Amino acid sequence: MTSIIEKRLSLHKLLANQQEANNALQSRITQLQALANIGTATHMIAHEINNLLTPLASYAALALNNPDDKLLIEKALHKAVRNCNRASKIMESMLAMANGRTQEKKNTLLISLVEEIFTCLCRDFAKDGITVEIRIPEDLTVWAVPVQIQQVLMNLILNARDAMLPRGGTLTIKAAEGPDAVVIEVTDTGYGIEAADLENIFESFFTTKTDKNSTSQYSGSGLGLAFCKKIIDAHDGSISVESRPARGTTFKITLPKS
Ligand SMILES: Nc1ncnc2c1ncn2[C@@H]1O[C@H](COP(=O)(O)OP(=O)(O)O)[C@@H](O)[C@H]1O
Ligand SMILES: [Mg+2]
Repeated sequence: MTSIIEKRLSLHKLLANQQEANNALQSRITQLQALANIGTATHMIAHEINNLLTPLASYAALALNNPDDKLLIEKALHKAVRNCNRASKIMESMLAMANGRTQEKKNTLLISLVEEIFTCLCRDFAKDGITVEIRIPEDLTVWAVPVQIQQVLMNLILNARDAMLPRGGTLTIKAAEGPDAVVIEVTDTGYGIEAADLENIFESFFTTKTDKNSTSQYSGSGLGLAFCKKIIDAHDGSISVESRPARGTTFKITLPKS
């Protein structure tokens, strides 16, 4: 008898330990996903910074070779100032999203969060044939940890982009306020999700983006949506999806007002 009780106790203890280890791993995954997002963004940023530096360097070289051309020198200086300002703006949003900033919930203007994501991604979506439509009221606020909601939206935006490459399409981000909640929708006109996959997409490590069949430059980690769900759950909200293969996908987030 005692031995059964003892065995039970030790099993309980084992379970508690495993649970603790599991929780630690989960929070590690959350941190890693945030870093993976930054990694993806970095790829685009490197490209964009290069686009800013190349013309700056050629103008400067040209100006050095033509010390008497006042107009040219002025133009080169203007270009240098403008492109440097843009580069530091990109870096600022990167740093803000990578760490820093408070992890506390507060009322935040949604439109500013979204605008900052695009500054951070900085890739001109139009260059990929993607039209971005943002329909968010200027004064709409969400009750959330700002940087976390940015990570969620960034995941959805990058997935939408992947789904529309290389053909292009339209990415729409809409938001509206109800009596108790704010509803945010991210819609793309991409390749959509097969019915069989729909129930798995929020699982950690589920990805259809393998090196072989991916249209994106990166193969998938399968952590993006799992991370989104985790964050939205922590905000007492919900996230759902509707998709039609070859037509497109809408992710809908509902965030309670307080
Ligand atoms: N907007 C979308 N359009 C089509 N498929 C999508 C979309 N968003 C997510 N998916 C599917 O869900 C899977 C999991 O997404 P995610 O968790 O972000 O991982 P990853 O992007 O690394 O593959 C993707 O591999 C893809 O199959
Ligand atoms: Mg993803």
